[in-house]
Amino acid sequence: MPVTVRATTLHDLPSLIIDCLNPVFSERIHLSITEPIPVGEALGYHAAHVSAGFPHFVAVDGDQMVGMCDISPSAPPRIGAQQHNATLGMLLVPSARGQGIGEHLIRAAIAACGSRWERIELSVYSHNERAYRLYTRVGFIEEGRRVGAWKLDGNRSDIIDMVYRPGRSSSI
Ligand SMILES: CC(C)(COP(=O)(O)OP(=O)(O)OC[C@H]1O[C@@H](n2cnc3c(N)ncnc32)[C@H](O)[C@@H]1OP(=O)(O)O)[C@@H](O)C(=O)NCCC(=O)NCCS
Repeated sequence: MPVTVRATTLHDLPSLIIDCLNPVFSERIHLSITEPIPVGEALGYHAAHVSAGFPHFVAVDGDQMVGMCDISPSAPPRIGAQQHNATLGMLLVPSARGQGIGEHLIRAAIAACGSRWERIELSVYSHNERAYRLYTRVGFIEEGRRVGAWKLDGNRSDIIDMVYRPGRSSSI
């Protein structure tokens, strides 16, 4: 059965967290979170985003959650000068990588933003070449590089800050 990309529902969240997010967090090398999150905590975070109507998409293989991409405000409402910025996060379980599913997910999430934000921001580690290539391919550009800011188990990488500007980045 082909993998489907669709908007996330509240019903999806428990299996998304258990089968998808926490296993990828446990890999430790791709994301800032390096250990599983208590399901209730992650549920509250993602349920708030889905309920608010922020772009939130899952990749589903049969009845199995294999990936997600979400975009949400970078700053809370009280930080008035940063309401034009959003932050993108995404991940796929290992078996779903390298097949173009990530590109499908990110394009769906960006398209759902419309003109809601001026900047869609993300950070990627310099050792994560597949993610960097995907982001560049869909129109993200590098804005800055924090040299050596990622350090884990004796390994070190740069943290690369990237941005996509709806209406100005040309690829989507
Ligand atoms: C980073 C990540 C989201 C990228 O998603 P992905 O689906 O693996 O990436 P893509 O959609 O770009 O596809 C990967 C490759 O498959 C190729 N591809 C595209 N369509 C394809 C298809 N129909 N069949 C086979 N391969 C295909 C792409 O050309 C790409 O090759 P390239 O990287 O050499 O250019 C995913 O690998 C992942 O979740 N990694 C772990 C978590 C992570 O790093 N998250 C991001 C943190 S910043």
